[in-house]
Amino acid sequence: MPIRIVRFRVCSGVIFLFLLIVGLGGASSAQAPAPAPPAILLGTAWYPEQWPESRWEADLALMQQAGIHMVRVGEFAWSRMEPVEGHYDLNWLERAIAAAGRHNIYTVLGTPTASPPAWLTQKYPETLRVNQDGRRAEHGNRQHFNWANPKYREMARKIAEQMAKRFGHNPYVLGWQIDNEYAEVSFDPETRAQFQQWLKARYGSLENLNTRWTTAYWSESYTAWDQIPIQVGYGNPGLLLSWMRFVSDTWRSYQKNQLDVIRANSDARQFITTNTMGSFDGYDHYTVEQDLDLAAWDDYVGEGHLDPIQNGAAHDLTRGFKQKNFWVIETQPGSVNWAAINNSLDKGEVRAMAWHDVGHGADVVSYWQWRSALNGQEQYHGTLVGSDGTPVPLYAEIAQLGKEFAKASPALAGTTVQSQVAILHSYDSRWAIQWQKHNDKYNPVEEILSYYGPLRVIAQSVDILPPTAALGQYKLVVAPGLNVLSEAAAKNLAAYVEGGGHLVLGQRSGMKDDDNSLQPERQPGPLVSLLGGRVEQYYALEKPIPIEGKWGTGECPLWAELLSAKDSGTEILIRYGKSNGWLDGQPAAITRKAGKGRITYIGAWLDPKTMAQAAKWMTETSGVKPALGVVPDGVEVSARYGTHNLVYVVINFSKEPQTVHLPAAMEDILGGGSKQSVDLPVYGVAVLSASR
Ligand code: GAL
Repeated sequence: MPIRIVRFRVCSGVIFLFLLIVGLGGASSAQAPAPAPPAILLGTAWYPEQWPESRWEADLALMQQAGIHMVRVGEFAWSRMEPVEGHYDLNWLERAIAAAGRHNIYTVLGTPTASPPAWLTQKYPETLRVNQDGRRAEHGNRQHFNWANPKYREMARKIAEQMAKRFGHNPYVLGWQIDNEYAEVSFDPETRAQFQQWLKARYGSLENLNTRWTTAYWSESYTAWDQIPIQVGYGNPGLLLSWMRFVSDTWRSYQKNQLDVIRANSDARQFITTNTMGSFDGYDHYTVEQDLDLAAWDDYVGEGHLDPIQNGAAHDLTRGFKQKNFWVIETQPGSVNWAAINNSLDKGEVRAMAWHDVGHGADVVSYWQWRSALNGQEQYHGTLVGSDGTPVPLYAEIAQLGKEFAKASPALAGTTVQSQVAILHSYDSRWAIQWQKHNDKYNPVEEILSYYGPLRVIAQSVDILPPTAALGQYKLVVAPGLNVLSEAAAKNLAAYVEGGGHLVLGQRSGMKDDDNSLQPERQPGPLVSLLGGRVEQYYALEKPIPIEGKWGTGECPLWAELLSAKDSGTEILIRYGKSNGWLDGQPAAITRKAGKGRITYIGAWLDPKTMAQAAKWMTETSGVKPALGVVPDGVEVSARYGTHNLVYVVINFSKEPQTVHLPAAMEDILGGGSKQSVDLPVYGVAVLSASR
């Protein structure tokens, strides 16, 4: 029997009167409306199935006291929800949701499909994934399921359907997380057959596939679909890319299998998401995210301390999946348990990190986890309460955040990030470079960050988007390492330049086509005529070589492309100094006005100092202005824009106290009053509101 709760708020935050009404039972009984949750939520992962029900109340009271308004529940609780095949027990979950609701805490329900129960994998062993070495996974950890297996999908759909029918109209359920961190795939013969079918659908005929993959090379030509192997990491580049696209499409259909049944049985206001992992590239996130309502990610620092550039880029990447605000659905309360050294973040750093999340567009920051299970694989992970159920030292910092989120929520409600600069990112390109790095120190994510870092510091906001996204709104679009350039992306970029934008291509761009074949022209392939120049040759470097030009003198480590300027309007921006003879005095970066805009190609991996100058030139040439204005080094500025207001989040990540002078007086939301400047201690945060 479900218990329905009606709550009357008599006086804000002080007195709550609870009226418990015992419902008539059944999934469809009407539920009382819940009060609207605050715009910015603090949350935690809570595992009520791991504790006696008598303990729940104490935990929820402590959460409420810390200003926590969201719990994510259920994502590993399949054996508790379906202890025996076809016998579902969701009553405890309904009681947990109701108990949380009584503390003004909303629930996000995780479908438990990352950890199938032992009875399931024992009875249907084909649902267990098979490793590349042909060994089947065993029970006892998680992610042991086979994402392509029809029986597993049938079982997953049934449990998701049961949950959705029961909770799809529950006013305290905000939304759904499908599964948990999609990652592991299977190499069993049935999956291989599915891959071969997928290839048939994509390529139509073997003749076409053989041509597009140039299988004449090494006698790779196929005369039957079932000859085609799965290859990972080393193999025909067309085959490698096809396998990753199959993996991505299979995650999409795996997700859709649950998503459809949740959508069919839930209120439209309940969102559906899944939790991703920053720069993880095990599948193409643009493929998988297109069916979701909301992007959400698990933000862990691991060893060391927060790097606001690296972490900020991961936020911006996640925000780009749906091009709107996102959630940090998991983050570390101090420390993790899986790094080489599981050091704690410093006092004040967790709070600074939470505000950094919000600045980049997160509407929720949720800590993993509330309390460690007494047994299980993650006993040492950071938590908000200890094994005795009382607060750990970090709890007070979280409670401070709870108060601050409540204070800032009205100003932040309805605000989003807006950027003048976009960085283009594609999984195809990252994979293509990783499979053939040519210099084993070449890391495509670091290449992206080498551009992102100085551009973020100058512009104070950057969007990260796929190369086929609409680009008209950006003054500057930068594509570092856009190695695979599809026809559609090339057209999109050319139109952007023709229309007045400034496109900057970074080293290794425009080399491959959509099948991961070399373009039949030199880099940047279809954009050569627009650029009025091209890459004559690329060189992997043993050691840094000198560069000199418009951006000063510096060094080029790892990678150098010898450019040529064929058009009289193409300007040479920098040149290589003396090195291997081939590169001596040759162009390393060129630019040309084209259409109403400009196109630039940077062929050299630039050292940080030269890249900072290059970023200055890129932004100045494109008319990009900082969101707030110049601030001391190490101070991060983010801005969120509403219809009538604008909120700046300013954080001191430097090692010294800093003073930030504001261009105009602003309301200091956390400190109170109107300020013309703010003093920030190390890890200090100011949240400032201005009208637009
Ligand atoms: C995440 C995972 C959580 C927990 C956490 C520990 O990757 O989703 O369930 O294991 O890591 O850091």
